[in-house]
Amino acid sequence: MPTPDSSAADQAGANQAGTEQTPADGRGQEPAAGERPGDPDAAALEALLAPIRDSGSDRSLLELGWIRRLRCQGSRAVLELALPGFATSQQGRIAGEIRSALLSAAGIDDVQIELAQSAAPASSGPIGAAGHGSGGQGQLPERQGIPGVRRVIAVSSGKGGVGKSTVAVNLACALARSGLRVGLLDADIYGPNAPTMLGVADRTPEVQGSGNEQILTPIETCGIAMVSMGLLIQENQPVIWRGPMLNGIIRQFLYQVAWGERDVLVVDLPPGTGDAQLSLAQAVPMEGVIVVTTPQQVSLQDARRGLAMFLQMGVAVLGVVENMSAFIPPDAPDKRYEIFGRGGGARLAQEAEVPLLAQLPLEMPVREGGDSGRPVVLSAPDSATGQAFLALAARLAASGAPTAALA
Ligand SMILES: Nc1ncnc2c1ncn2[C@@H]1O[C@H](COP(=O)(O)OP(=O)(O)O)[C@@H](O)[C@H]1O
Ligand SMILES: [Mg+2]
Repeated sequence: MPTPDSSAADQAGANQAGTEQTPADGRGQEPAAGERPGDPDAAALEALLAPIRDSGSDRSLLELGWIRRLRCQGSRAVLELALPGFATSQQGRIAGEIRSALLSAAGIDDVQIELAQSAAPASSGPIGAAGHGSGGQGQLPERQGIPGVRRVIAVSSGKGGVGKSTVAVNLACALARSGLRVGLLDADIYGPNAPTMLGVADRTPEVQGSGNEQILTPIETCGIAMVSMGLLIQENQPVIWRGPMLNGIIRQFLYQVAWGERDVLVVDLPPGTGDAQLSLAQAVPMEGVIVVTTPQQVSLQDARRGLAMFLQMGVAVLGVVENMSAFIPPDAPDKRYEIFGRGGGARLAQEAEVPLLAQLPLEMPVREGGDSGRPVVLSAPDSATGQAFLALAARLAASGAPTAALA
């Protein structure tokens, strides 16, 4: 499949189909008849490519399976370059290095790089690679549990900035403090904050296996195992994912991570009601979602929409968490200022006939914990917010049947 057809390539998303050629002389469209896969020259060429590495993991592209079908056609070296979605920003550098390496070989005066799509289904492509979307195609695949993971709880919000990640991270750490084995999947692909909040922004997860069999090892921190897009992309790199790509990435984070035995997997979703919510809800059997809101009217409106979407998709809403319920000043801990109003979380919960699971104060240690990489349940467990998180975790630990049988 030297040149994937454009519709298939469009579905795959991350790797635009196409052919890069040096020099651009049009010879790239020759039939593959002249290929000599067993050509001894191919081994020599492979050796020249061995030093080219992925800048994120520092692993060889050959080892990662990103370079495929390297062969000689006369004096031309031909190969497929299959970069996963998170590595497409390296495409220019990698193509340049491949070209100069191959052109240094005796007898090679032309290099043809075919930009391949991953031919594998969404749940078995290389980590971070695009997958074929299931959303919007009529037939939904069966929901599939994650072997070893007993409960999946997602944290969602109608809008950003209401404390969704703060809740997800602290809930995960609080559940772990109560003795449970906890995973955190930061599925906020557009604004992954969990690595910073857990102090692991500079870590790179290990990838086992190669090509379509890649398995990511989660990062162990603060008593939990976590993965995040933030660990795979460079900081400040803008992230643009289209629906099918996003679906593939979420599935890879669910099924191509060595989660091990986990009593609970907490999922931090992006804000709103988009493709990520849809992908997660369609992929994995979930115990349910927690909807985070502030007491404020505009936050409530958005939260209502989110809540309705999950109910429509047949996903249980476990309850509402009202964040920033009242400001507690550090110099007057007995005072409470209701900056964002009062009673919003309770109203939302009542409308949807779900419990109000917690009311979390607005406190400086929460923000400090988030920025310093040590969540408030660990850095200040005795604070009002720390206590509220521990109570929320105790409530969730006590409730809830497993959402997937242990495999
Ligand atoms: N209860 C709280 N008290 C103090 N600061 C908070 C609280 N909840 C969230 N924050 C801060 O508000 C900001 C936004 O929170 P975040 O969890 O990133 O929101 P979201 O994930 O919904 O965008 C962060 O800087 C966080 O530290
Ligand atoms: Mg966030």
